[in-house]
Amino acid sequence: MAIVFPSLTLGIFDSGVGGLSLLRRLLDVAPPPWKSVIYLADLQHFPYGPRSAEEVRRFALAGTERLAAAGAGLVAIACHTASSSGVREGLVRTSVPVVDIIGPGSRLVSELAARHAPGRIIVLGTEGTVRRRVWERALRQAGYRGPITGWACPFLASIIEEGRNGHILRRAVLAATDGLRRGRGSAQSNPDIVVLGCTHYPFAARTIEEVLRTEVLGRPVRVVDPAEALAADLVARARALEGMAGPSGEGTRVVERSGGLPVEVRFLTTGRASYLAERAGQLLADVDKTGPYRLRLDEVQEVTFPDSPV
Ligand code: DGL
Repeated sequence: MAIVFPSLTLGIFDSGVGGLSLLRRLLDVAPPPWKSVIYLADLQHFPYGPRSAEEVRRFALAGTERLAAAGAGLVAIACHTASSSGVREGLVRTSVPVVDIIGPGSRLVSELAARHAPGRIIVLGTEGTVRRRVWERALRQAGYRGPITGWACPFLASIIEEGRNGHILRRAVLAATDGLRRGRGSAQSNPDIVVLGCTHYPFAARTIEEVLRTEVLGRPVRVVDPAEALAADLVARARALEGMAGPSGEGTRVVERSGGLPVEVRFLTTGRASYLAERAGQLLADVDKTGPYRLRLDEVQEVTFPDSPV
């Protein structure tokens, strides 16, 4: 059985620091089926939530091509708002393969719902994601037939982006979910599964879960981060692209960790490099520094999109 070293660079795209919740999961993947990772935060245009689908689609396309130009051979659209802007429908045509978060995420949530009957689902997300009802369509496509409520949480991503926590974060979660509390008892406000339909929310997962349990629903609820499914999908695709063996060793070639070299994680942003370095440093502070990944937060690069509208 031949041993191969990965040659793939994985690109991750998000409007801000939210996609670091996906990166955080990928940093636990061992051995890494990629040589390096590039994270691009479109901070110049953050937040995407209130923007039109056309505008967000243009940014997602520009971001993907920027990542491809930097060497990415596979791009993950971590951002739900970008994923709901036409990426899934093929309206964004790119020069490299792209995986969005809603596709793999909806398959995971649909499977969970089947196991947690009756499996009523609430998807928390930005205004744009909820308005476009893409999660609903994807869940139906994945075979889910039960009730789905999309619930917009305006401002919540921005509060998390800015690094607010403690009682400010709790108050923001309370405000965002207050309508659910008032409708408590109605079928649509009585979920079995709550989907974190925005990449920023996993960084507030504990507060969201606690507020739902104590203030909104009055009982525990299963809270799901779809990035779990996107991470697994990316590993499978990366391995397939590299022609590597599966987890049980089937196939002809076995992945080895970058020939013993660390996997570099580089960061790009259309906003301020110092801001991304600081926030990523905080959000990834607990990453094992002796592990296979090297986070290059010392050299975050500022980039522009072609004909970037403000
Ligand atoms: N991270 C984005 C998402 O997953 C939302 C933040 C924004 O409004 O840009 O939907």
